[in-house]
Amino acid sequence: MHITEKDIQIIQNYTRSNPNKLSNGYYYIKRLFLKPQFGINELIGYHLACLFDLETPLCHLVKIDNSYYLLSEYVEFKNMASLGLNHIKNASLYEIWRMLDKYHFNSQELMFQIIKMYLFDFLFGNSDRNYTNYGIVTRHNKSNLIVYDHEYLFNYNRNVMISSFYDGNQHYKNILSNENVLDNKKDNLEEFFRNSDKGYLFLCKHYLDIWTPDYFKEILDEVENSNVIITVNGNIPLIIPNKEQIIKNYTDNYNLIIDCFEECQHHDPGIK
Ligand SMILES: Nc1ncnc2c1ncn2[C@@H]1O[C@H](COP(=O)(O)OP(=O)(O)OP(=O)(O)O)[C@@H](O)[C@H]1O
Ligand SMILES: [Mg+2]
Repeated sequence: MHITEKDIQIIQNYTRSNPNKLSNGYYYIKRLFLKPQFGINELIGYHLACLFDLETPLCHLVKIDNSYYLLSEYVEFKNMASLGLNHIKNASLYEIWRMLDKYHFNSQELMFQIIKMYLFDFLFGNSDRNYTNYGIVTRHNKSNLIVYDHEYLFNYNRNVMISSFYDGNQHYKNILSNENVLDNKKDNLEEFFRNSDKGYLFLCKHYLDIWTPDYFKEILDEVENSNVIITVNGNIPLIIPNKEQIIKNYTDNYNLIIDCFEECQHHDPGIK
């Protein structure tokens, strides 16, 4: 993408609540005040989400006068709050499924997408999946999940890893809410797998077979090689800081979920 002098002015004076018209289309713009890492995470998140078969807006990272801006291609969607689904933030997966059904979305397919989002957040250490950071796109009467705001990926330095609050009755409780995604109770995920539809287990197995730590490392290399930071004077290379540490943390989380998965298989001989 090439930015013109006029684009630079628009970017520097962007409006947050509406798309901004740049020379090659409409973009949501956000300034990344703290560090370029957040912008880099957005680019990585874009690639990871695509590979996860989750819809997410295409984005570019621009540096102007030492400030970093994310340009996110405008997509028309509704977030959970605007759909009246803000109670989803404390909902269990089961409850989410019921809500989707009530609102006449194609709930089964959407539910698969929610499970993918859950795996995405878990594996890539996303600590900011609040209900304003995903939404629903409807095209030709079909509803799809859309995920965005990948700033807080790789936020593994937390003492909690797997989701869901299990009190003996409500196995699925809070599996997606932010606080509880960060809950280090491996057996709760096992509970979920054991008590939910087997289709979710097969879906997870499919993803875990692909997303080995070696594959993840390959993808990070690819993101570095296929992305740039756009500046007024041309593009500069994208370098992922702390890559070794990110891969190490990924490997830890991956092994955790694999252990959990194997326990489930152990309890259910039907799954190989
Ligand atoms: N590509 C896009 N197309 C349409 N709307 C978008 C796009 N990107 C962001 N938005 C809208 O802007 C809001 C804020 O974007 P985002 O979550 O990336 O920024 P944020 O600074 O983290 O905001 P928040 O603190 O609200 O999470 C989103 O909830 C969404 O409604
Ligand atoms: Mg956000």
